[in-house]
Amino acid sequence: MNATHERNRAKRNRMSAHPSSTSLAPHVATLPDDAATIMKRGAVTADRILELGYSYRACRTLLSAVELGVFTVLAAGPLDRDTLSERIGINSRGARDFFDSLVALRMLVRDKAGRYSNSAETDLYLDRNKPTYVGGAFENVITRIYMDWGSLTDALRTGKPQTHLSMVTKFAELYADETLRDAFTNTMTARTRPVAQALAKRFPWAEHRTLIDIGGSQGCLPVEIAKAHYHISGGVFDLPPLQPSFDQFVKAHGLHDRLRFYPGDFFEGPLPSADVLVLGRVLHNWDLATKKMLLRKAYDALPAGGALIVYEQLIDDERCTQTDGLLASLQMLLSSPGGSNFTGEDCVGWMREAHFRNISVEPLTADQSMVAGIK
Ligand SMILES: C[S@@+](CC[C@H](N)C(=O)[O-])C[C@H]1O[C@@H](n2cnc3c(N)ncnc32)[C@H](O)[C@@H]1O
Repeated sequence: MNATHERNRAKRNRMSAHPSSTSLAPHVATLPDDAATIMKRGAVTADRILELGYSYRACRTLLSAVELGVFTVLAAGPLDRDTLSERIGINSRGARDFFDSLVALRMLVRDKAGRYSNSAETDLYLDRNKPTYVGGAFENVITRIYMDWGSLTDALRTGKPQTHLSMVTKFAELYADETLRDAFTNTMTARTRPVAQALAKRFPWAEHRTLIDIGGSQGCLPVEIAKAHYHISGGVFDLPPLQPSFDQFVKAHGLHDRLRFYPGDFFEGPLPSADVLVLGRVLHNWDLATKKMLLRKAYDALPAGGALIVYEQLIDDERCTQTDGLLASLQMLLSSPGGSNFTGEDCVGWMREAHFRNISVEPLTADQSMVAGIK
């Protein structure tokens, strides 16, 4: 040990022994030299911790703005505070701070006259009347999920879901409430559309003729694929209460002659057959035994040469960088008895076990990837 180190150590020991030393001092004394030096120089700060700990406020402010339709109202043009408050139906007390917070969060812009307008991104993506609207992805969050996260500590302590309906497994209860059902299917569609558009380009559809999306909700994925590839037909296999949502959605896209609904329950009997089967964000809802059961059933239902596409918010194989996939897995802890997200490597292993071959993992969007395999 050199002389400088020796001096620093003696100084730290003096600090920790001194009755008036700060509460930090004893900790500094036990830190390795490098960390203690960095701390003293102020290179390590609490800023990131505080920012993360308070980030719920920014998140909730954006969700309320979407819920109240701020961006849809402002898509027609700039408005002053009172008019905007009146249009979205809020009390004057919080209005100024609410709108100015959205300015500070760069979701709104305020001009010199004090009028508010959308930023370029909120105008494109959060105006309900534009086809590029992504706010549907938050409907589920606004109606249920945001509240569920308040019980994360209890979920961690008990290992039990914190939603009384156990929504993700007892879908029947979720679908019995029309508002919750629509919020759920709209969220699914908003989350799936960019994935489906990427998949339409990245998969060799010319080699296949039929496609069935298992647990495909209102049909966003087959609609996008069928729009891009005129030779493809098929549809969605899902629980019977989703048929009206599917029929309405597919009809609105003029694809009811090529896409149909296959009502059923994947716990009962075999899956329907098609050249390509998709399991998109379905496996994460279930425990390992069910995940493997679904992969086996998909294999059995495919013809030789047929393909299975799994897409999910995958966790990176080292389980340390894909925050979205890891947090989505905690979401499963909150809302299902056995569900969890998984890595590409996990999925490849399970698909091998189910006898798939030529298995590949490929990113589709910023946060979702596909694992594809051939029978
Ligand atoms: C998380 S959602 C994923 C929806 C869609 N694939 C997507 O990525 O947007 C899970 C889907 O599985 C369906 N599902 C749940 N249990 C099912 C069952 N027992 N049989 C068939 N489908 C089921 C749900 O109705 C829901 O549409």
